Amino acid sequence: MNVDQIRETFTRFYAERGHTRIPSASLVPHGDPTLLFTSAGMVPFKPYFTGLAEPPALRMVTVQKCFRTTDIDEVGDYSHLTMFEMLGNFSIGDYFKEDAIKWAWELLTGDPPNGFGLPKEKLWVSIFETDDEAHDMWRGVGLPEDRIHRYPEENNYWFSGDVGPCGPNSEIFVNRGSRDTCEYCRAGTCKPNLEPDCGRFLEVWNLVFMTLFQAEDGTRTPLPHNNIDTGSGLERVAVALQGKDTVYDTDVLRPIIARIEEMSDKTYGQDKATDMAMRIIAEHSRAATFLITDGVLPSNEGRGYVLRRILRRAVYFLTQLRGPSDETLLDQVAEAVIEKMQHAYPDLEDRGDFVKRLLSAEESKFRETLERGRAHLDSILATATESKKIDGHQAFTLYDTFGYPVELTIEIAGRSGFEVDLEGFEREMSAQRERGRAAAKFEIDADRTAAYGQLAHIKTRFVGYDATEHRTTIAGIIGASGVADSAADGDEVEVVLLETPFYPEGGGQVGDTGVIVGPNGRVIVGDTQSASEGLIVHRGRVGGRIAVNDDMTAHVDIDRRRASQRNHTATHLLHAALRQVLGDHVRQAGSLVGPDRLRFDFTHIESTKPEELAAVQRLVNEKIRADIDVHWEQQSYDDALAGGAMALFGEKYTREVRVVGICEPAPAAMTDDQHAEAHATCFSKELCGGTHCGRTGEIGTFVIASESSVGSGLRRIEAMTGALADAYVLEQQSTVARIAKKLTATPAEIEARIDTLQSELDIERKRVQQLERAAGRSEVDTLMSNAERVDGTSLVVARVPAANVDAMREMSDLLRDKLGSAVIVLGAVVGDRPNFLAVVTPDLAGRVHAGNLIKQVAAIAGGGGGGRPEMAQAGGKDASKLDEALATAKRIATEALGG
Ligand code: SER
Repeated sequence: MNVDQIRETFTRFYAERGHTRIPSASLVPHGDPTLLFTSAGMVPFKPYFTGLAEPPALRMVTVQKCFRTTDIDEVGDYSHLTMFEMLGNFSIGDYFKEDAIKWAWELLTGDPPNGFGLPKEKLWVSIFETDDEAHDMWRGVGLPEDRIHRYPEENNYWFSGDVGPCGPNSEIFVNRGSRDTCEYCRAGTCKPNLEPDCGRFLEVWNLVFMTLFQAEDGTRTPLPHNNIDTGSGLERVAVALQGKDTVYDTDVLRPIIARIEEMSDKTYGQDKATDMAMRIIAEHSRAATFLITDGVLPSNEGRGYVLRRILRRAVYFLTQLRGPSDETLLDQVAEAVIEKMQHAYPDLEDRGDFVKRLLSAEESKFRETLERGRAHLDSILATATESKKIDGHQAFTLYDTFGYPVELTIEIAGRSGFEVDLEGFEREMSAQRERGRAAAKFEIDADRTAAYGQLAHIKTRFVGYDATEHRTTIAGIIGASGVADSAADGDEVEVVLLETPFYPEGGGQVGDTGVIVGPNGRVIVGDTQSASEGLIVHRGRVGGRIAVNDDMTAHVDIDRRRASQRNHTATHLLHAALRQVLGDHVRQAGSLVGPDRLRFDFTHIESTKPEELAAVQRLVNEKIRADIDVHWEQQSYDDALAGGAMALFGEKYTREVRVVGICEPAPAAMTDDQHAEAHATCFSKELCGGTHCGRTGEIGTFVIASESSVGSGLRRIEAMTGALADAYVLEQQSTVARIAKKLTATPAEIEARIDTLQSELDIERKRVQQLERAAGRSEVDTLMSNAERVDGTSLVVARVPAANVDAMREMSDLLRDKLGSAVIVLGAVVGDRPNFLAVVTPDLAGRVHAGNLIKQVAAIAGGGGGGRPEMAQAGGKDASKLDEALATAKRIATEALGG
């Protein structure tokens, strides 16, 4: 079976058993601050397991793309990958252990095309040590006793992070035959989970019987229902079914290796080091291609850092394989990945061009410094042969100056038996990076999470698309010590209403502010957030007293909301305009929509040219003046995409989505919807839950204030709309007016006036230079007449009024030419620092060495330096020691000349 058949066989098997097929979610987990990446098939379903959200179905089946940072160092062995596909079936409080075990057995051992056709006698399983139930069920399907092994929590208990759902598990292994190299195999005692892993037992499936929730302090409490979460690594299943030794020999990775063979003119399977390099390049390029497609961009923090780390590691191994080259290769490997996988993941094709351009840019950038860094690292390795340690500062320099991820330094240094002081490196990092460790962002407030859990049954209805004022009832209150029935004057609370017009922060748009007024008190709301699906919390301070079940009227701050709406609708126009002007590779990568401004991050490699920005701003304003209707409707996810709506990175599959369109003529204005849809030209159409203007005309004016780079392949535009845009333009105008006044010109004359000033300045600079030269020459004449004669040689040691080192050099050249045989030492204060220059004519070689002389002289003024025998230059720190230093110069030179 090839991988396509494996995916299809798996999903069909479970679809036939009542499971809904759910598409793979993004590698960037949606709304889960505890995770960097989607690391298992269950990640998108976490809220369903814990009861925080309603699942689309109780039985679901997926093929989920996953990324695990924990396995990076193991990549290259027979089975570990950073990016892999996980086949999984899930039950949300529906079937449990018995069906999970029975079906897994049926699928693995059933005849193709409905099953995988693995021989029953090759399957072994592990279970949690006390799980007699699982034991009996495995016995029940026909597995003999000696192939069921019990293990402690360390092996057979599955946790989704430190905080989250968990439970005992059972793993299924394929026995690939005993290994001569393994002492357990030879003794006939080999079994799964032994160290070292001899490769005999390949784990192909993990069945988790998820029953508990583990809190931050380690306590475990029952989940609202028992769940099933299973995960089977597609690539490992391929190894087992295709009878291969490693994942690299299967049809998943072999075609990618083949491309690397072509590029490198080397053959896979002939030499261990070459094979390892090829495997790492293939795996990392594949993973990077998927990460970039899902919106991750290389950076020095968080997800971006992980991407950069694997990319740089791949580049390092590419150069090992092929040596330095001007041609970039990662983009070519990515092409092979895209060709191989685009039919299963169509996004790869849509984003392919961008992925390749980004990879090639990142590779070129790293190659530039890779070699220099390598020389630097080699010199460290050569000097620290005793300690065999690279200190934190050295590792940091390699990271900061040469772009070496510290893990790469560790890897390369490790091969020469060196250790890296990781703690020292971290210290240097945190000293430099006050921006805060990425980890801080991933901390969650455990108390809050528990309180949200208690209120998860409340499903707040959001009425804010139509209203900004609404009568409703308090359904819950969270105070300083958790869920409460009431709150008193001055309390900081989170209030939950049955219905609310307050927009909770989401899709980049900030949460609404306002006031919620009741019979005995009020809440001044400073922010609104979505705590979990359906649970909207209003954060604010209580005045008077409020209690659960109080009837309230919620008033949104309308001016602030309208200002945010203007920026939100303008963001959609900006997105569409950028795509029209710069190209379809432009995608939104993040946005912030507040009342005062909008910030829009988008994927684009080069900087945006001024004329392109002008075109974008013009186009957006054109659409504003056209006063187009902004309409929205609920649609199924598939319909929305089919209708051309833009889905954003990291968006999660939900059954119903909201589509916001800016189309002409407005579909709503026509009677027949279908007809309207077909004839409307949509300038913009996006999946979006935010609030918008009714018509684009409300935006008023749109002005781009800045455009900059915020990372590799990522640009940022900051812009303003409405009254603030006007204020911005007025401010710019008054700045121009002030400049004009200073230049005694009109605004229109500013440029010409600056050009004139510039050329006047150039002329003046040249004049000053000429004057300085003339002064230098007359100074030289004085020095000549004051030159001392020592043993037939001229000696000039003097303090000179030179403005810079070049002027000193010019003087010494003149002196040398005129004096013939001479020792010349000049000193000058440049800025507030002493500078020295020594020149010795060649006939004095062996008697006076300019480099040695200057070294001793500069030391007196707190400096260092040196140089050649005939010419040397040095700086110092203490200008007050200049004369003393020159006196020493004179003494040394005189002695050396035998005077
Ligand atoms: N969550 C479990 C795993 O990742 C089973 O899907 O192994």
